[in-house]
Amino acid sequence: MVKSVLPVCFFILLLNGASVQDTVQGFIGDSALLPCHPENGQLKVITAHWRYDDHKNVYDILDGQGKTKEQDAEYNGRTETFPAEYSKGNFSLRLGNLRKSDEGSYCCFMPESNESKCINLQVTEKPREIQEKQNSNGGVETTAGRIVSLLISLFSAAVLLCV
Ligand SMILES: *[C@@H]1O[C@H](CO)[C@@H](O)[C@H](O)[C@H]1NC(C)=O
Ligand SMILES: *[C@@H]1O[C@H](CO)[C@@H](O)[C@H](O)[C@H]1NC(C)=O
Repeated sequence: MVKSVLPVCFFILLLNGASVQDTVQGFIGDSALLPCHPENGQLKVITAHWRYDDHKNVYDILDGQGKTKEQDAEYNGRTETFPAEYSKGNFSLRLGNLRKSDEGSYCCFMPESNESKCINLQVTEKPREIQEKQNSNGGVETTAGRIVSLLISLFSAAVLLCV
């Protein structure tokens, strides 16, 4: 019984992931978290290559180690990944000090599972009311953060439905 439901759940999860087309919004000067998680949980994935526009090297995670040696100069000092999260299949990348020219497609390629996950980053001027809020209380959740939480809650809802 449980066995026969599982493929359906897997399919729903995939659809869910695909239908919320992965766009992350960030503000100029802020940072954005670009999510990357292998979908094939069976495989041990410890290598992930982040690329912009299919060619610019943004970040490499090689055998569980973050590397920026081959990184394109325009990303110097603006990237961060989370080594403690790699083993949980979290290869998300934080890109800081966003500029308008950062807009575009970022793909995370995981050779071990032969998966590629692409995120479309949009960078806009920070709306005035958020700037004011930030000045008054020293920080506010970014749109990117909200989108990520939305994705996480959608994902959790799908998981709950499927259990
Ligand atoms: C991945 O790690 C980052 C940094 O710790 C965190 O903000 C994000 O929520 C994690 N993603 C998931 C799905 O746990
Ligand atoms: C990886 O995926 C691509 C495209 O989906 C496919 O053409 C290729 O054969 C796959 N390679 C392996 C090693 O599975």
